[in-house]
Amino acid sequence: MSSNAAPLAEVTAADPRTDRYLRAALSLPVDVTPVWFMRQAGRSLPEFRAIREHASLVEITRDPALCAEVTLQPVRRLGVDAAILFADITTPFSGLGVDFEIRPSVGPVIERPIASQADVERLRPFEPREAVGPLLEAIRLIRAESPVPLIGFAGAPFTLACYLIDGGPSREFPKTRLFMHEQPAAWDSLMERLVDATVAYLSAQVVAGAQAVQVFDSWVGGLGPFDYRRSVMPWMRRLWEGIGRLGVPTTHFGVGTAGLLRLQAQAGGDVIGLDWRIALDEGRALVGDRPVQGNLDPALLLGPWEVVEATTRWILNLAAGRPGHVFNLGHGVLPETDADVLRRLVDLVHTHRFKGA
Ligand code: CP3
Repeated sequence: MSSNAAPLAEVTAADPRTDRYLRAALSLPVDVTPVWFMRQAGRSLPEFRAIREHASLVEITRDPALCAEVTLQPVRRLGVDAAILFADITTPFSGLGVDFEIRPSVGPVIERPIASQADVERLRPFEPREAVGPLLEAIRLIRAESPVPLIGFAGAPFTLACYLIDGGPSREFPKTRLFMHEQPAAWDSLMERLVDATVAYLSAQVVAGAQAVQVFDSWVGGLGPFDYRRSVMPWMRRLWEGIGRLGVPTTHFGVGTAGLLRLQAQAGGDVIGLDWRIALDEGRALVGDRPVQGNLDPALLLGPWEVVEATTRWILNLAAGRPGHVFNLGHGVLPETDADVLRRLVDLVHTHRFKGA
C-alpha cells in the first residue's frame, strides 16, 4: 500500500461496513459479502433529483461540497459498503481540451469528434490539478465524512475513444472500430495519450484519498478477441502497470465481455467485473480465480422481488462463501429503479448465509 492509500490497519472498526469492500477486493475473508452499486448516486434517489433540479452534472463535479454530498447520499440511504466518486467518465475531457456536453437521458456528446492524427495531436497533456481541482477537493471532503471506502474511477482508453471518435452515445461505435484499423498510427497515439491521462487522473484521485480505483471499459464487449488483443490489450497492460503502483485495489469492468474475460484478466486488475450474461463460477474460473465483482442483471430490479431474491441467492451460492466476491449489478442502476428495492437488496446480500454446496 502506498502512503496515500488507507492501510487496512488504520480503518476503524466502528462501522462493520468500513473495510469489507477493500478486504474482498484483496481476496481476504469478510464477515458478510460487501455490496455497492454502479451508478448508485443518481436518478434513482429522490435526494439526488432534488439537487439535480438546480445543478447540472458538470456543475456538481465542480462544487466540492455538493459533489461530496451526492457521493454520500447512497451510502446513507442504501447502506452500501463503498462510495463511488460522483463524476462521469467524460469529466477529464475538458482537461484534454475536448469540448463536450452531457445531455439528459442521452449521455455525453462531443462537439468536434476526433477523425485524424491532427485531431489527436491537438489534445492537451492532462494536468489533474488544473483539470479537476474541485473533484480532488471533493475526495478530501468525502474521506473526512465517509464511513465506507471511497472508490475513484476513470473510463478505459477504448471506451473513452468511443465517445471521442463516434462523438456521442451509439450502440456499436462503428467509427471507433473503423478508426483503429484504417488509421492505426493515429489510434496508437490516441491510446498512448489516453493511457497517460488516465494514469495521471487516477494517481491524483489516490493521492487525494481514493482507497480503490475502478476502470470502466463499458463498451469493449463490442470488440472481438482479435481486435482486443491487437488494438486494446497492449494499452490496457500499460495502464495497469501505471495504476498497479498506486497501492490500492483496482477493478477492471466491462459489459458483454464473456468472450474477453481471460484477456482482460491478463491485461490487469485485482478484481474483474462480470456482467449478468455469465455464471459467476464460470467467470471466476476464466479469470484464474481472481476476485470478481457482479453479477445481477440491473433490469431485474424493476420486476418482482421474488425474482431479485432468487437470482441474488443463486449468485451468492455460486460465490460459495469464498473470499473474493464483491456483490454488484452487472451494469449501472437503471434510473427507474426504486431506491427501496436497492436498500432491500443490500440487506439481502448482508444477511444471506452460504449453506454449502
Ligand atoms: O454513482 C455513480 O456511479 C454516479 C457517478 C457516475 C456517472 N457516470 C454520473 C452520470 C459514474 C460512475 C459514471 C460512469 C459512466 N458514464 C460510464 C461507465 C459506467 C457505465 O454505466 O458503463 C459511462 C459509459 C458513462 C457515460 C454516460 N454518462 C452515459 C452513457 C450517460 C447517459 C445515461 C445516463 O445514465 O444518464 C451519462 C450521463 C450521466 N453520468 C448521468 C449521471 C448522474 C445522468 C445525467 C445527468 O444527471 O445530467
